[in-house]
Amino acid sequence: MKRIALLTSGGDSPGMNAAIRAIVKTCLFYNIVPVGIRDGYKGMVNNDMFDMSYSDVDNIIHTGGTIIGSSRCLEFKEKETRLIAIKNLKENLIDGLVVIGGDGTFTGATILSSEMGIPVIGIPGTIDNDIYGTDHTIGYDTALNTVISAVDKIRDTASSHHRIFFIEVMGRHAGFIAINAAVASGAESVLIPEEVPDLNKLVAQIQHQNKGKRSSIIIVAEGEQEGGSLELINKVSPMLEGFDLRPTVLGHIQRGGSPSAFDRILATRMGSFAVELLLDGQNSIMIGSSGDNLITTSLEAAMKLHSVPDLDRLVLLKKMLTRF
Ligand code: F6P
Repeated sequence: MKRIALLTSGGDSPGMNAAIRAIVKTCLFYNIVPVGIRDGYKGMVNNDMFDMSYSDVDNIIHTGGTIIGSSRCLEFKEKETRLIAIKNLKENLIDGLVVIGGDGTFTGATILSSEMGIPVIGIPGTIDNDIYGTDHTIGYDTALNTVISAVDKIRDTASSHHRIFFIEVMGRHAGFIAINAAVASGAESVLIPEEVPDLNKLVAQIQHQNKGKRSSIIIVAEGEQEGGSLELINKVSPMLEGFDLRPTVLGHIQRGGSPSAFDRILATRMGSFAVELLLDGQNSIMIGSSGDNLITTSLEAAMKLHSVPDLDRLVLLKKMLTRF
């Protein structure tokens, strides 16, 4: 193996740069040329690739985003587009590929690997933590901490003004960020995609909570079944007369910022392991974490199956809220 290409695709996540750095440095350690592909699969199609060296990854371990860029390349679903990408990979003498991203990224990688025969290793990088085959995805821990620090700040004003804040967090179709942000920030309630919401119960809970406290934080996963924080406020406000209800959508702030120690370490281990796996002749697998160990899963399983948050956390949350 002489030339290993790498790309980041889908939504960026804090720690992607640490993974890029680890891949590049491990390649160079083994005298392999790391080839960066700019802007995900788009760069593969546009032949936007460059040989990387140590200086490309100097001073990036602490930075958010991805230095090689990312995109959601819908054209990659077309076979003709992929044929162009394969031709470009062959022209660049690529022997192996490492892709960092979410399940969309792995779908592209799986098809590519079966169509072109170049071995591919996946690294889970998304703030959503919704990838099957890993306890943690790169970026999730940082995003969760970003959410918690934002909620802490909102709680200050919520309690000063006796307001009920509905704080919408990212996570696409999964409630990992929401449920764990709710536990860690002491939220009064949480709505997640994995659970059918009961608005009457939510209203009763807000009324009950506010007998003693007069402010509440409700964490709303963007993918929950009522349609998000604004929609939710529209639905419950007729039942909560006299309460001051406010929506906050945290948005893309959750994707940025310096990665946590946890994400930097995870990304460094996964990035380096990806190169080792390619050298070991492995193909079409994703690296995951299980406890403190790195494990592997087939890319196909990672792409097709979904991971769900531990719903026992809802019971835990309820115990934290009970007020007699
Ligand atoms: O997958 C990461 C994520 O941030 C999701 O939580 C969110 O639904 C989506 O990406 C937003 O994507 P975009 O930045 O393309 O709008």
